[in-house]
Amino acid sequence: MSDLKTNMSNFGEVEKALNSKSLRVCVIGIGRIGLPTALSFAKSGLQTIGVDINENLVEDINSKKFPLKDEPGYENIFNNVLEKKLFSATTKIEDAVSNSDLILLSLPTPMDKNNIPDYSALTIVGSQLSEILTPNSLVIVESTIEPGFIENEMISLISKSGRLKIEDNFSIGVCPENANPGEILHDFTNLPRLVGGINKNITQIIKLIYNFVFSVDLIEMSNCKTANAVKLTTNVFRDINIAFVSELSLMFEKLGIDTMKVLEAAKMKYNFQIHYPGAGVGGPCLPINSYQLLNTAQRIGVKLNMIESGRRINEKMPEHVVELISNAFDESNQTLENSKILILGISYKANVRDVQLSPAKIIVEKLQKLGVDVYLYDPFFNSTVIFGLETQNNLENILPEMDGAIIVTGHDDFKNIPISSFSKMKHSILVDTRGIIDPVSAKKEKIIFRGLGRGGF
Ligand SMILES: NC(=O)c1ccc[n+]([C@@H]2O[C@H](COP(=O)([O-])OP(=O)(O)OC[C@H]3O[C@@H](n4cnc5c(N)ncnc54)[C@H](O)[C@@H]3O)[C@@H](O)[C@H]2O)c1
Repeated sequence: MSDLKTNMSNFGEVEKALNSKSLRVCVIGIGRIGLPTALSFAKSGLQTIGVDINENLVEDINSKKFPLKDEPGYENIFNNVLEKKLFSATTKIEDAVSNSDLILLSLPTPMDKNNIPDYSALTIVGSQLSEILTPNSLVIVESTIEPGFIENEMISLISKSGRLKIEDNFSIGVCPENANPGEILHDFTNLPRLVGGINKNITQIIKLIYNFVFSVDLIEMSNCKTANAVKLTTNVFRDINIAFVSELSLMFEKLGIDTMKVLEAAKMKYNFQIHYPGAGVGGPCLPINSYQLLNTAQRIGVKLNMIESGRRINEKMPEHVVELISNAFDESNQTLENSKILILGISYKANVRDVQLSPAKIIVEKLQKLGVDVYLYDPFFNSTVIFGLETQNNLENILPEMDGAIIVTGHDDFKNIPISSFSKMKHSILVDTRGIIDPVSAKKEKIIFRGLGRGGF
């Protein structure tokens, strides 16, 4: 194999290997982000192998079953690169790594139940690389990590067997992923990306590679930790701003002011960036990214008050949703206990099939504690068991059996539900947490309506 090896710290060699399409790529972690990444590399003509510990996923991929049905545009690419034998998957990390020049890590970086970031997938693979990485390879970490993780942890993990020395016979860099689930193809081909290397030469080499595959603007950062700091800053900015409008919306509700009207007008001002209030902030990024920065702050003895309070507000929003439904039940002289409530939307955000850290789960648990018989409907989950409940697959049939409903996720499909459908419920009680329902139309239909942050109608 060694005669095939490209020296990944030599710009000229990498350029030659790209142009001749002889550069061999291994993507470790082929989930939501890693699979589209691997497919993009394969589509550019580079031989690409995906590694994952999930045997079913690997088996599905190798038997041509595309696992990311809610990522438009990728199924064709998947079929195409599989047919051309440019992409395959394996659980055998050693074989894949030893036959590759470029190793991309798209491993999960979740947090534990105490909100402590969990980097175990990266540290396990880092230790494995220490034993199996071929000298002169380049490792690029795409996972979202705290600033300093590469410098303080990853390099020493990969070097620990003594075979490999940074900048001597292996290199590392980062290219943090910015894509939005459900829009990954669009984001991969349009959004600028951050690039940071262990030195300037490696940064240039990473730019060369990503330019070959993605042709998007590549923002050169001075080092890995700065690139990771930018990635976290952009996401935590959103977490904090959502908390800001969510908190304001609670007050506007009491003041008889419609937050949606406030925001639509506010966004006319050139420097206002609109964020919407909601049932809470979930997903694999925003909440975790805030806790990643809080973790860094704690490690170095700094306090990040704004991020802390933002998290507190966002984590309290599901409680407010339960207050809204409870209040609507009071108005209709019904008790929540033994009532039937339909949760519309269980994904953590609109138009994706993903329930990671979804506020819907907390709302379901809180309602169940109050004795509610909870039903779930989400167009992305038909007859699937989620949060211990089987999802419904026919909205028209289930609504008349319900006492009330709560729109938790703003899926586009929900915008097309005629308002009259909700008046078919036994008590016509509706809570909208995403500003989808027009309160005036709801009132006309004699629906007992509560909109999160919406007063004054
Ligand atoms: N999903 C997003 O919206 C998004 C957006 C931007 C950045 N990110 C970041 O990208 C990274 C990956 O996230 P994701 O959403 O693709 O996660 P994911 O859970 O969908 O995929 C991760 C994959 O890694 C595999 N894996 C876990 N441990 C492994 C190991 N030891 N060896 C090999 N494979 C292993 C899992 O089986 C899984 O298939 C995270 O750091 C995340 O924060 C995610």
